[in-house]
Amino acid sequence: MKISVIGCGYLGAVHAAAMAELGHDVVGIDVDAAKIEQLSQGHPPFYEPGLPEILASAIGSGRLRFSTDMADARGSRVHFVAVGTPQQQGSNAADVSYVDAAVTALAPHLSAGDLVVGKSTVPVGTAGRLAALIDASGSGASLAWNPEFLREGFAVQDTVKPDRLVYGVRALPLAEEVPLVEEGSTKEAPSRNQLGAAGFETAASRASSTSGNHPDVDTLNEVYAAAVASGTPLVITDYATAELVKVSANAFLATKISFINAMAEIAEVTGADVTQLADAIGFDTRIGRRFLNAGVGFGGGCLPKDIRAFTARAEELGRGQSVAFLKEVDAINLRRRQRVVDLTVEALGDTVWDKKVAVLGLAFKPHSDDVRDSPALDVAVQLRGLGVNVVATDPQAIANARGRHPQLTYTSSLEAALEGADAVVLVTEWPEFAAIDPVWAASIVRGRVVIDGRNRLDAVAWRAAGWTYKGLGRP
Ligand SMILES: NC(=O)c1ccc[n+]([C@@H]2O[C@H](COP(=O)([O-])OP(=O)(O)OC[C@H]3O[C@@H](n4cnc5c(N)ncnc54)[C@H](O)[C@@H]3O)[C@@H](O)[C@H]2O)c1
Repeated sequence: MKISVIGCGYLGAVHAAAMAELGHDVVGIDVDAAKIEQLSQGHPPFYEPGLPEILASAIGSGRLRFSTDMADARGSRVHFVAVGTPQQQGSNAADVSYVDAAVTALAPHLSAGDLVVGKSTVPVGTAGRLAALIDASGSGASLAWNPEFLREGFAVQDTVKPDRLVYGVRALPLAEEVPLVEEGSTKEAPSRNQLGAAGFETAASRASSTSGNHPDVDTLNEVYAAAVASGTPLVITDYATAELVKVSANAFLATKISFINAMAEIAEVTGADVTQLADAIGFDTRIGRRFLNAGVGFGGGCLPKDIRAFTARAEELGRGQSVAFLKEVDAINLRRRQRVVDLTVEALGDTVWDKKVAVLGLAFKPHSDDVRDSPALDVAVQLRGLGVNVVATDPQAIANARGRHPQLTYTSSLEAALEGADAVVLVTEWPEFAAIDPVWAASIVRGRVVIDGRNRLDAVAWRAAGWTYKGLGRP
């Protein structure tokens, strides 16, 4: 299938390459000429494991090319919209102006039968508005919303083999509605009030079937043929549900992290160990152990801005109270950054001025170079603001961090970061940091104090090597 992917950032570049790898004929379009130039040469503009390989293979096969010209979307049957939806300046709300601009620029190039597929994370109601915009263009194209759940660091595998697919599709006119019960079936037809807001069967009644009997569902099934054939769970629903699925998934994950971090705060005043607490409650399969790692908290280009945008949108809808707890989730999360700063200052003693602190990590999580709203970078910047001589290192994120905070001192050498340090702060749980030999590290630092902002170090081994070890929520 001929496909265009509009917006070639962390999401779009991976999506474009993965779609080409799956056999589609793809053009990736972005307004950033430097990014397009890099991608065209097979060089990802960011670090993502596995992306260089599929990019090279897809470009080599002739099935993937990149362009800055929206006219190159012409002729594609499916147009994925993967542009950014960052937090607005001075507000919690999402800035949807990039999505609006992309769809407006795309509209003149659409033809009847084309399907525009939103992948960006948007406030509920956006898809309905964009569908009206596409209708007004008179092209005969339609819109679906297909939220993306990829995790940076695992983006390629998550795109090729998603854990679920969600299609938010337009309501078909009721006259076009398909029979809800197959001929000869003894099952009763569902009543009108069992139908979804979209005016046809909802996910509950349809999810077991991959043949949507809806042209846009059929098109999406063709795009994702491999995933659909392998039995990937499929939820077919209306626009609003599809939009809400994404933000509520992120709200849930953020809440789970802040929940355990709130327990860490209680553990800190009671002498309890939050890591053991997490293990113990995590054995309950209703709770589960994942996303229960207490530490410096979540960050990145999604969770923080998505929970804020959700709160802002709910307030606009007169339902602010329903998700007011997300403000507390955000506040707990930000307090953990402060806690790491406070522990470090405490460890440095009376004066912090010009004491050297090795900050291990800048990316918001390992296996990524993304520093958007990164707790690690935030801690480094706050310590620098207090006059600490911060020397920060990260396997992949130095260039991005330097672009945002040139005032910090960076080194790609772990040894150079540790050498002569008065304290060591671990804030991104890269495997190479977790694997540091505490005996070796003790031999090159000046002060043997380590603040483990991710609770990833072996406290017993570090203490045995002469370190004062401070974890979060641990005695
Ligand atoms: N990064 C993730 O892990 C992830 C996961 C799921 C969903 N999302 C969502 O996907 C969307 C994109 O996120 P991202 O992390 O890829 O952002 P990003 O900033 O890395 O990429 C966005 C890209 O869109 C381009 N762009 C902006 N306006 C454009 C226009 N009018 N036409 C063409 N290109 C344009 C930008 O130049 C940029 O390259 C966001 O809504 C985000 O919330 C991201």
